[in-house]
Amino acid sequence: MAASSYMMFQVFCLISVFCLNTALQCKVCSKEDPNCTIGDNIESRTCDNGEDLCFTWFGRKGIEVRVERDCISSGTKGYKAMKKVTGSPNVVQNRLKPELDSIREAGTWKSERIISTSQSAHIKIEHSSNQLLNFCANNYLGLANNPEVIKASKQAIDEYGAGLSSVRFICGTQTIHKQLEQRIAKFHQREDAILYISCFDANAGIFETLLKESDYIISVSTIGTEKQDELNHASIIDGIRLCKAKRLRYKHKDLSDLEAKLKESYNDKNENVIRLIATDGVFSMDGTIAPLREIRRLADQYNALVFVDECHATGFFGPTGRGTEEHFGMLGKIDIINSTLGKALGGAAGGYTTGPKALIDLLRQRSRPYLFSNTLPPAIVASAMKAIDLVENDTSLPGRVLENAAYFREKMQNLGFTILGDAHPICPVMLGDARLASQFADEMLKRNIYVIGFSYPVVPKGRARIRVQVSAAHSKDDLKRCIDAFAEVGRQLKVIK
Ligand SMILES: Cc1ncc(COP(=O)(O)O)c(C=O)c1O
Repeated sequence: MAASSYMMFQVFCLISVFCLNTALQCKVCSKEDPNCTIGDNIESRTCDNGEDLCFTWFGRKGIEVRVERDCISSGTKGYKAMKKVTGSPNVVQNRLKPELDSIREAGTWKSERIISTSQSAHIKIEHSSNQLLNFCANNYLGLANNPEVIKASKQAIDEYGAGLSSVRFICGTQTIHKQLEQRIAKFHQREDAILYISCFDANAGIFETLLKESDYIISVSTIGTEKQDELNHASIIDGIRLCKAKRLRYKHKDLSDLEAKLKESYNDKNENVIRLIATDGVFSMDGTIAPLREIRRLADQYNALVFVDECHATGFFGPTGRGTEEHFGMLGKIDIINSTLGKALGGAAGGYTTGPKALIDLLRQRSRPYLFSNTLPPAIVASAMKAIDLVENDTSLPGRVLENAAYFREKMQNLGFTILGDAHPICPVMLGDARLASQFADEMLKRNIYVIGFSYPVVPKGRARIRVQVSAAHSKDDLKRCIDAFAEVGRQLKVIK
């Protein structure tokens, strides 16, 4: 009894210290919050129907409030009061709003259409009963809603539960995680593999773990002068930023530039130096393919390793879907491969690194996204495993998507469109102007074809495009409908004659 009175007294003191005088009224919902009061040092409070301001602001809803910097927690019921800091910036008004406005004004605002069906070649979106033909997913093999993939996922949930509530090394490795790692290594003909929650994480973890200050990372660079023109995927760029190795850049497909950079690193006579060439196998915005044979040759000449991101190749590129190195008839010749389970291989999520066992062992010890992020959920592990089964057992699957891509490219070029890329299902239809690309996509949607316009900063200024992604799930009739719609809109908007 005495103890609880004492605790109540403490609580009263804490509230008195931080929440003085008048009860606060929320600026948004007008509710009074009797538990927190306005004081000399508190200017205002905004709640989300009773939610705490700081949480509201910093994470959950982004409700517009005047935000002051220092939050003081009373420690009771999680209430927090704001202490006015003289001269502190009004973050929403002075910083966030102008930035958001500038994105809108530049015409580069990205809005998200809400799909109300499963991912497929045929989808529906919210507020429309029309069935759309979908040409903008990375669902290259159409496995995202494959019945066998879904069944495998469901079974894994029944057997292994929803998730592990742990990172791998503490309490988060199940039989199926080990099985999938072995399957991936075998699929790529490598010694070992390590799973991540995404390929973004795999890319974020590899360079910092492998490379030291004395090493060299040589990656694909700009096609223009602006930094945003960099061709490698953002996750490779970010991963490289995290490592301390010396950075050298070569121009895309420019082998003499690559050689010059390799020579520069070769002047370093320290024999323990690692030189790592990092490239996408297939470049996602242009649909172009890295010249891996020549890259390997140069790497051998200058004692360098080659890292390839195979997100837009794994499962469907190359005769049996082993990716870009198989496309060039050099399976097993690349030192390190990172790829995703979130595109062709079931489309759920997940990424991996595959390569020499010693590297994979080191990643398990040191790679931060692996060590400090949750285990891949069993449902996803099982769906990816089933997708690999399907690719291995139905060798016609990769052929189908490449055949569809060749058909689409040929017909579109015959119509007079400029299509970038090299025989890959990423078919960028070049339009140049950002507003034209977005208008073109809107017109296509009116014809029930779902495609997306890409503009700066995702692609260089003046190189806006519609990136069509062809899937094995598209029928010839689907492709014809898409091409007919392109022809109609292209003539209407005077892109073709
Ligand atoms: C080339 C490339 N690398 C990495 C990623 C990241 O993959 P994930 O979605 O598994 O994080 C993507 C995804 O867009 C990609 O296109």
